[in-house]
Amino acid sequence: MVASVLDGTSIAKGLERGLIARVDNLIKKSIITHLVVILVGDNPASEIYVKNKQIMCQKLGIKSTLVNVSSDVVQDELEQIIEEFNDDDEVHGILVQSPLPKKIDELKIASKILPRKDVDGFNPVNLGRLVQGDTGGIIPCTPLGIIQLLENTGETLEGKRATVLGRSRIVGMPLSILLSMKGIDATVTIVHSKTVGIEKICRESDILISAIGVPNFVKTEWIKDNSIIIDVGISRIEDRNKKSGYSIVGDVEKSANRVASWITPVPGGVGPMTIIKLMENTIRCSELS
Ligand code: GUN
Repeated sequence: MVASVLDGTSIAKGLERGLIARVDNLIKKSIITHLVVILVGDNPASEIYVKNKQIMCQKLGIKSTLVNVSSDVVQDELEQIIEEFNDDDEVHGILVQSPLPKKIDELKIASKILPRKDVDGFNPVNLGRLVQGDTGGIIPCTPLGIIQLLENTGETLEGKRATVLGRSRIVGMPLSILLSMKGIDATVTIVHSKTVGIEKICRESDILISAIGVPNFVKTEWIKDNSIIIDVGISRIEDRNKKSGYSIVGDVEKSANRVASWITPVPGGVGPMTIIKLMENTIRCSELS
């Protein structure tokens, strides 16, 4: 048997209509939902991600403003820009695209964005609420999208052994908290660069989520029969057979689909879910304004 595909593109598409209705309701109250995206420097991958966010904003009727900032920017200047949008009542969401130049303190930037405009959910107030089991704050987009993908399998998550590869601020850490939260109730293991016995841990996992960005790190032999695989990784590798000269691959070997029951494609799995959850968070910030 080959695993069923957890198609993020079509799941995200299915959510669009409901979001458009919410945006329209806000417009009836004279509220134009407005997201500001701040892009520092000219990282080509970030430029594509930001462009995709803007395209989706346009599709849903959300106003988006892209602020391009030179990579020479210093901490104070970037914080000043955020402050201006914090003070602007017509802006409902602020996102600073990661990664930032090394000299910029990303944690301070996350703290600077007002919690009620923090569409990424990275401000310590929002992350702190999450840690306390309070889902009323803003929850990071990729973890939210992954939970939605898991729910779409129709399988119960309660009591399942879930392994998260990677402990990043953006994906791994908040996702681990969400998965272990009351109501979802998975038993979570976090795998990181110092973990011993990764293979064995993976083999025992009913749900495996990899967010490390290392192409084909997770081998097909590590996959438990009938498990659910969520591949957050998206990397370019050289491929002479392709006209472009490269292929896009995830963290998990493609042939894992021969063992798992569900698997996300790369691309078209987690990526579209992150964007749609960003839209949901933005609309929520606008509704609460
Ligand atoms: N870079 C990669 N993913 C994300 C994300 O979800 N939010 C931000 N701000 N930057 C990112």
